[in-house]
Amino acid sequence: MITSSTIRQTYDRCSSFYDLFFKPWLEFGRRQAIECLQPEPGETVLEIGVGTGLSFEFYPPDVRVIGFDYSHGMLQESKRKVATEAPCPVDLLQMDVQAMAFPDRSFDRIMAAYVLTVVPDIHQAIREILRVARPGARVVLINHLTRRQGFLARLESLLHPVFARLGLFTLDRDLLSILESFGIENLQTAPTSWLGLHHVIAFTVPRAAAGTRPSHER
Ligand SMILES: C[S@@+](CC[C@H](N)C(=O)[O-])C[C@H]1O[C@@H](n2cnc3c(N)ncnc32)[C@H](O)[C@@H]1O
Repeated sequence: MITSSTIRQTYDRCSSFYDLFFKPWLEFGRRQAIECLQPEPGETVLEIGVGTGLSFEFYPPDVRVIGFDYSHGMLQESKRKVATEAPCPVDLLQMDVQAMAFPDRSFDRIMAAYVLTVVPDIHQAIREILRVARPGARVVLINHLTRRQGFLARLESLLHPVFARLGLFTLDRDLLSILESFGIENLQTAPTSWLGLHHVIAFTVPRAAAGTRPSHER
């Protein structure tokens, strides 16, 4: 099983060469996600799991980004990009998506690219995203979606334990069903990245789901 400490170690270790592989391969998805997020002038975007900051260049200049990551190494790389590549102001924090330090109902725009395949407790991460979202907030995720059949589904089930053990990512989460179990409806999905391995998933946070308290605080 993927744990917080293996994730942190893995991403700390690969932070210096992460861009070499994951910039070209996943570039299109980041651009597509921010276009889909449609931040308006003056708005603040919460970006979860910013990694090395590869998304920064796609933000419009008139928004503000609050970005966080769990890995110190990844944050060090993203700090460099704030100085050199970000067209808009970016504040960076070290934080765990499963226990965010923001008050309830803080954000109208939330983005998480290739992150929910990594966190140990995806239900808690989604609970937290809904807690910090305002009613009507737009949330855009880029994620792997579970395949049920075909060659790639078989390949993924073979490779899943290897990637999970390395603390890189998991491939066994049915994100759409999990989101639906939180009362999220009208999910928009569009394939992105090579072979359609990832999807951009967008939704509007319903009034009933926004500000939902995490279970450990209820
Ligand atoms: C596959 S990388 C994606 C990084 C970036 N979003 C991108 O587009 O390249 C996953 C990122 O999620 C971060 N992460 C993993 N678990 C996290 C958690 N519980 N809270 C915050 N960030 C987390 C990792 O440190 C890593 O930077």
